[in-house]
Amino acid sequence: MQDLELFHKEHGKLIQEKYPDTFDPKWLLMESGWGYFHLSALDNQPWKEMHQEAEALADKFYSHREDSYGKGWKSLTLHGLNDDTQSLGQYGERDKVLSELDWTWVADKCPTTKKFLTDVWPAEFFNRVRFMLLEPGGYILPHQDRPDEEKRLSICNISLNNPQDCQFVFKDKGIVPFKDEGSAFLVDISNPHSVWNRSDKPRIHMIIHFELGRRTRDMFYTLRQSFYTNRSRLNEGLE
Ligand SMILES: [Fe+2]
Repeated sequence: MQDLELFHKEHGKLIQEKYPDTFDPKWLLMESGWGYFHLSALDNQPWKEMHQEAEALADKFYSHREDSYGKGWKSLTLHGLNDDTQSLGQYGERDKVLSELDWTWVADKCPTTKKFLTDVWPAEFFNRVRFMLLEPGGYILPHQDRPDEEKRLSICNISLNNPQDCQFVFKDKGIVPFKDEGSAFLVDISNPHSVWNRSDKPRIHMIIHFELGRRTRDMFYTLRQSFYTNRSRLNEGLE
């Protein structure tokens, strides 16, 4: 608990990265060293409907890492081996596991969310896709999901809601400015991070692990539009 308080005290501030003048996707994803990138091109998705779909299944979520670094942290898998799919590495040979992944009953119960994933989200293949719920008072202790040498903006973390007083914080990169009305961010989980929900509402996010496949172009334009939108919002002091 002391670790948690110290981490949030030390790193829980908003840090604005400086945007270069021109968009370079390789620099942005692999070389910038940024902790997160707001996919603002996706700002107007039906996040609230997706939140309702997830919230309606709140009693179906499974406890997540309760025995190690999470408290009040739960997950429910939309795309995976089953509705409680953990890190893929633990199920055996990776290629075989990947070929066995599929939509679960959760996706069928959440048509708006599934439609976003299949029709809008700019990647062809899905690895794991999960709803992650953090109960009021719940927390995820500081941890690092990837080694330092695998630094890149890769997975997508979407806030379906993000109550005030619930903070996702990266070491040295500060607070990720998730929006309560919904927002999508690429994040670099080789940076130590921690989440603490000090609100009285459950927080529900969705995490997408993906491969671009034939939709590389779509991701390129999503990144490009987001880059220039974020940059001009910053310059105008709107962000
Ligand atoms: Fe993590």
